[in-house]
Formats: sequence, C-alpha cells, structure tokens
Amino acid sequence: MKNFGQRYNHKYIRNFIQKIFIKSKLSKIDSYIVASSLVYADLKGVWSHGIARTSVYYKRIEQKLAKARPKIKFKKIFPSVAHIDGDNGLGFIIANQAIKKCISLAKKNGVGVVGVHNSNHFGMAALYVEKATKNNCICWVFTNASKAIPPHGSMTPHFGTSPFAFGCPTNNPKKPFIIDMASSSVARGKLKFAAQRGEKIPFGLALDKFGKPTNDGFKAFEGIMLPFGGMKGAAISWMMDIVAGIFTGAAHSGKVKNPIKDFSGSSNVGHLMICIRTDVFQKGSFFKKKMKTGILKVKKLKLAKGFKEILYPGEPEYTNYVKNLKQGIQISEDVRVDLERLAKKLKIKSIF
Ligand SMILES: NC(=O)c1ccc[n+]([C@@H]2O[C@H](COP(=O)([O-])OP(=O)(O)OC[C@H]3O[C@@H](n4cnc5c(N)ncnc54)[C@H](O)[C@@H]3O)[C@@H](O)[C@H]2O)c1
Repeated sequence: MKNFGQRYNHKYIRNFIQKIFIKSKLSKIDSYIVASSLVYADLKGVWSHGIARTSVYYKRIEQKLAKARPKIKFKKIFPSVAHIDGDNGLGFIIANQAIKKCISLAKKNGVGVVGVHNSNHFGMAALYVEKATKNNCICWVFTNASKAIPPHGSMTPHFGTSPFAFGCPTNNPKKPFIIDMASSSVARGKLKFAAQRGEKIPFGLALDKFGKPTNDGFKAFEGIMLPFGGMKGAAISWMMDIVAGIFTGAAHSGKVKNPIKDFSGSSNVGHLMICIRTDVFQKGSFFKKKMKTGILKVKKLKLAKGFKEILYPGEPEYTNYVKNLKQGIQISEDVRVDLERLAKKLKIKSIF
C-alpha cells in the first residue's frame, strides 16, 4: 500500500494545515503542534497518520466531539508519577504535554510515568518517543484505540490497532532507535486509504465482515483487522487496552470511539508514557557508546537472501525523512481534493 502524488514543500503544507486548525478555534501554538505533528509523520513516510487525517480531526472539533481549547489538568500522584486529564482535547496537544511532563519527571527522578485519560487519537506514536530519546531517555508510549482487532479465538473486533512504541538514543542524535508498530498486521489508516482508492491489499491483513479472508481494501476496512503474529499481536493489543485504558481511567474494552466513523460522543482515549534516563545504571554516555557497538555488530552480520543492508527500527523512517525534507512530501489526489474542500469551507485560500 503505497502513497503516490505530487510533492510539496513540507513548510508550505504545514502553514496551510495550521490555518485549518486556527480556523477550527485552536490556539496558534496548538494549531502549530497539530500541523507539525501531521507533517512530521508525512516526512517520515508514515503517510497514513499524516495530513491525510486533517479532516478527521477537524470534523471531531466541528461536531463538538473534541475540544479546541481543552483545560488540561495535571495531578501529581508520586514524585515521579503524574496523571493527566486531557479534557477531550486533540490527542496531539495532550500527548505533547504528557511527554514533556514525563521527560521532566525522568530528568528529576530518574524515571517518569504519566497516565493520560480523556484524550483522543494522537497519530504516530513515534512523535512522542522521539522527543524522549532527544532528552537522553529510553521510553515506552502506549495508547489504546477504537475496536478493530478480535481477541484470539473471536471474530468480533474488540481491541484497537494500538501501536507499541519504544525508543532509545543511539550515538547519532538524529537517528534514534524507534520501534513504532500497530498491533494489527497493518495500520488501519492504510486500509482506510486502500478502501477509498479501491485498491487490492495482500491477503492475510484482514477478513471481511463475514470473517472470510479478503484482498479487497473496502471489504477489509469495513471488516475485521487481523493482529500481527496471530495470538501474539492479539495479546499486545489487549495489553495496550489494559495499560492505556483500564489503568489510566480512560475508556476501554471496546468503548473507545472510532475517530473516523463514530460520532456518537467523545473518544476518551488513554495513553501511558514511561521515560527512564539512560544513565540510571551506567553513568555518562556509556549507554550510547554501547548502543553504537551493538548496532555495528548487528550491521556486520551475514545478510539474509534479498537484503542489501540490515537496518535498525527507526532507520527506514529516518531515510524517508531526509528524502522528503529535500524533495517534499507526497500528497495523493484524494487527500489534495479533501484538503481543498476543507479549505473552501473554511474560506482559506487553496495552495494547490
Ligand atoms: N494512534 C493510534 O491509535 C495508532 C494505531 C495504529 C497505528 N498507528 C501508527 O501507525 C504507524 C504505522 O504503523 P505500522 O504498524 O504500519 O508500522 P510499520 O509496519 O511501517 O513499521 C513498524 C516498525 O518496523 C520498523 N521497520 C520497518 N522496516 C524495517 C526494516 N527493514 N528493518 C528494521 N526495522 C524496520 C519501523 O522502523 C517501525 O518501527 C505508526 O506510526 C503507529 O504509531 C497509530
């Protein structure tokens, strides 16, 4: 499932998306946070969680299912633990504040743990993990999401495609080690666009709504998403619902609303963030030096058939970033049309 389209300078697009959120009554700074988070996902090649989702977030604000100006509340639980009530603001804004808090707790106490409730879809999980790596922390970010995946043994979607995300610094500050993967075989966002574009998808990613294997993007999006690795992905998706949902006090057990299709109320997504300073057990820059040796060792291993190089998680996205920064981000025709329609509605001059 690839993304094709004309390339545009990312700053140009970011300004445009920021205008959309300013018109949606977000503050200038929060509009910038949302716009730059979406554009950053596109720069990284994670187009399914980039500007293509602008109208989804806009619609939730427009329909008053999410707040443009939330009053985010912080509660200190223990010296290194905070609880955040996101007051139903956009997930990007809340998660940005949550990771800042988590990093500052870790800097002070060695470890920071932040639980968030009353939030919304926060996009690409790597956004937050990467901030922690730039502050010399290892980090885990968990979120739950609307029902899409059946627990192992069921054919009823119940848990989210919730991404498992981990990051740590390497000796290259621009290229942290970042695992950021949906617990489904493929991110649901990619299926949405396959459905929209009438594309075929590989078998094994989803079932249709009757439980039959399908390679039809539309039937898959309307149907049942499959976890990655069978029961193992299903278990991770359940774990995400426990730690980000039950544990934080957010919605859980199939109650998180689908941001794209369910307009019956607020989503109440939960997030859990954990940051630990890299020098808690070994002083100074020991961690980064050992990461460097570890990565070099892996890169020298014998290649499997068909491979030219061994990459570490986060590296493919960094390569996309460097390329897209230079050449511009790709905007597909359906996304361009959607953004133009939104701009017209909000009386913003089109840039396309
Ligand atoms: N907020 C939500 O509710 C939600 C839900 C689902 C997915 N998402 C987001 O969707 C995005 C896409 O998820 P996905 O599962 O499609 O990711 P993916 O399959 O593209 O990548 C998964 C991971 O594999 C690594 N990887 C890829 N190729 C590699 C290679 N050749 N060698 C080594 N590592 C490699 C990547 O660096 C990444 O960490 C993520 O950013 C995720 O946060 C968000």
